This record gives sequence, C-alpha cells and structure tokens, in this order.
Amino acid sequence: MPVKLVVGTQWGDEGKGKLTDLMASQCDYVVRYQGGHNAGHTVVVDGKSFALSLIPSGILSERATCVIGNGVVVEPGVLIREMESLEARGVDTGRLLVSGSAHLIMPYHLEIDKVSERYLGKNALGTTKRGIGPAYADKASRIGLRVQDLLDPKIFREKLDVALREKNLLLSKAYNRLPLSAKEISERYLDEYAPKIAPHIADTVNILHLAIAAGKEILLEGAQATFLDLDHGTYPFVTSSSPTAGGASTGSGIGPRNIDTIVGIAKAYLTRVGAGPFPTELKDETGDKLIEIGVEFGTVTGRRRRAGWFDAVLVRQAANINSLSEIALTKLDVLDTFETLKVCVGYRDGSATLDSVPYHQSVFHRVEPIYEELEGWMTPITGATKPADLPSAARKYIDFLETHVGVPIATVGVGPSRDQFVSLR
Ligand code: GDP
Ligand code: IMO
Ligand code: MG
Repeated sequence: MPVKLVVGTQWGDEGKGKLTDLMASQCDYVVRYQGGHNAGHTVVVDGKSFALSLIPSGILSERATCVIGNGVVVEPGVLIREMESLEARGVDTGRLLVSGSAHLIMPYHLEIDKVSERYLGKNALGTTKRGIGPAYADKASRIGLRVQDLLDPKIFREKLDVALREKNLLLSKAYNRLPLSAKEISERYLDEYAPKIAPHIADTVNILHLAIAAGKEILLEGAQATFLDLDHGTYPFVTSSSPTAGGASTGSGIGPRNIDTIVGIAKAYLTRVGAGPFPTELKDETGDKLIEIGVEFGTVTGRRRRAGWFDAVLVRQAANINSLSEIALTKLDVLDTFETLKVCVGYRDGSATLDSVPYHQSVFHRVEPIYEELEGWMTPITGATKPADLPSAARKYIDFLETHVGVPIATVGVGPSRDQFVSLR
C-alpha cells in the first residue's frame, strides 16, 4: 500500500519537516492532517533555509502535490503570506490543495487565545497564541466556519454573525476587550482572502482516494507530536488536535488500513516549548549546551526551548500509541561534544519504580528519571553518509535507544541539510 505517515514521538520540533522533505522526493502527495500555523518546520535545501508553518514540507519537492487536509485549522492570511513568500523564492505553490472542510481560524480565535492565556496567569499553557485551541473548540461546538464557506458569502456572513454574537460578549464582558466588527472580518475574508484561496480549494478526500486507487505514493505529515496530542499528551499542556497516528486518518480521510508505514521522528535528546511536565529536563549548563549547539529556538515564536536527555520511556509509549514501524533519529550530531550521555530508562516515584509513563499527571510531574550512562563519541559525525562512518560509541547509543524503545531505528540525522542523514537499512 502506498501511504506512509510521519509522526512526532516527543514534544514537537523533532525534525519532522526535514524527514518529510527527504521522503517527499519519492511521493506524489504530501498531506498535513492536523494543527495549523502553530507548527514550525525548518527545511534546509542546498544551503537555503525554509521555515514552513501551514504548508506541507513536501512543497519543496517538485514532484509532490501538497494537501492541507480537513483536520487542519487554516488562518487564510497566513496561508496567503506563506504562499507568496515561497513563490518569491522560486517555489511553485500551484501544487497546493486546501480541503474545503478544513476549519478557518478567525480574528476572534487569535484574540481569545491571547487574552485567555493572559488570564490564566501562572497556569498559562504557553500556547503559540495562534488561535489554534479556540478554533478547534468552535469546531467541536459546531459554530466553526470552514474553508468552503469562503466560496459562499451569504453562508459565511450568516455563520459569522452567529459566532460573533457569542464571541463579542465573551471579549467585551469577560475579557474587557473591544468587540470585533462582522463587516470588517467579512470584507477581509471574502474580498481579500477568498479570491486568492479559491483556486486551491478542493475535495481532497476524494482526490486522495483516487490517488490511492491509481497506486500513487502518499505521505501524511504530522505536525506537533505524540505528547502534545489532545488525548495522549500531557493534558492540559497539549495542543488541541490529534497529531498521533489515529488523527492522520480522521484529518485526511484516509482509513487506517491504507497506511502501511508509520515513521516516528525522535530527537536524539529531548526538547519542549511551553509549560508542562518534563522529567529529564536539564536546567544547568548541560541543558544550555544542548540548546546552544542544537539551536533550540522556536521556528514560529522564537522562544527558547527547554532541553534534556532522551527519554526512552516516553518514546516507547509513542511507539505503542502510533504503531510505529520504524524511527528516524534526528540531531545525533548535536551530541558530538558530550563526553557522557544519559538516557532515561524508567522513573522513580518515591520508593516505587515505573517502567511506563504514569497516567496520572500529578505523578508524572513529580517522578525522577532513572538514567543509564553511555560514553559519548567526541568526534564530528556531520559528514557521515553510511553506517560505517559512525563511530562505535554512536552506534552503541543508537542500539541502546533501539533496544529500549523497541522499534528499529532506520535513519539517523547528522545535520540540518537534506543530504545529512545515514540510512541504517
Ligand atoms: P519540526 O517541527 O519537527 O519540523 O522540527 P523544527 O524544524 O521545528 O526543528 C528541528 C530543527 O533541527 C530545524 O532547525 C532543522 O533544520 C534541524 N534539524 C533537523 N534534523 C537535524 C539533524 O539531524 N541535525 C541537526 N543539527 N539539525 C537538524
Ligand atoms: P511542530 O510542528 C513544539 C506547543 C506550544 C504549547 C502547546 C499548545 O513545529 O513540532 P497551541 O498554540 O498549539 O495551542 O500550543 O503546544 N506547541 C508546539 N511545541 N512544536 C510544535 O509544532 C508545537 N505546536 C504547539 O508551545 O506548549
Ligand atoms: Mg517545529
């Protein structure tokens, strides 16, 4: 079967964009199935760096048609700006399709995301403030506007009026903000955005089914990651969509039996942006060193990421939740100058030891990691192109992770460029 899936196994920013770009050269379609412009994917091609947010990372491959699936939330202004900036750099965005069933991020979603975070104070989630949560909340409440509504001004205005009645009450009465104008929003969305987006709006579910029937290669590209998943992540410190493998089916309309390979992307250490538990976090100079060498600053918000050692318990859980076929281990080169490396193989909770992620958040907040120490390789691996180029300590580190996670590591990233990887198969 011709459908592959790329999914993050940690807390995001594992290098999904780079792997998607790499795999896209073999694909006819690359499909984003959830999230929105909270995602930030940096892809480096021929020394040129591209920061993608809403558009699938497959856009840099000339072969692939890129699809923004029904499960994505779309801020049309951002989409247009991203298309224009890619076009200005010579990337053809005529190959981009947007599902008519994807939901729109509206100006009040951005506003509510910002003010509700501020009102949460010390309990803030540290969202990207892109309106993601409020847009998915409206989808679930069945008062969301969809991409297809851009094609029907009458319906668009009617739905906007219904939604704004509630939103303006919330903004003015609860949050002490000025109400938003339906006229201004309609003008921007219908007059400015709709004509630019209309040529890309399509029945993507049917298009993908026809592609499957014709034996085309399809790649589903997850944004965010397993532990930011609304159900399986560290709730409430999660995003509002389903990045895990199950979400790939609902968010694209491709049934689970059509997906034959599920590639989990795991960073060789661990990072997280925003609030939430992180047992292996390093708040010392070792953490600073990971951040500095790994350039761990958000693509979207520029925020400094939190960093720590690889947590094998977490990735083992991700392997189960996503039915991973294989793992692509990224950023191994960032560990080139560490004399010793630690890997979390279990947790300690008082006198108890745990070998899986506890379901209770209070427990997960307080557990201490149980580490095993491995020797570093203390030599640059950025030029490695085949397994024999990797030092034996690096091979041991990879084998150790593979054993503890229980899924074969098929690819290892040794630098940000498209060609900086080693295939272990
Ligand atoms: P994504 O959100 O999962 O696509 O990941 P991001 O793009 O937000 O963050 C990953 C960062 O690591 C990007 O800047 C990539 O260019 C970079 N990167 C990806 N793979 C590697 C690798 O193997 N080595 C190094 N040094 N950088 C990498
Ligand atoms: P990529 O695709 C890392 C985090 C935010 C916050 C939480 C909720 O680049 O891996 P949201 O704005 O989604 O409501 O924020 O989720 N978050 C990410 N962290 N990488 C991402 O995407 C993220 N997208 C959201 O920092 O903690
Ligand atoms: Mg990212």
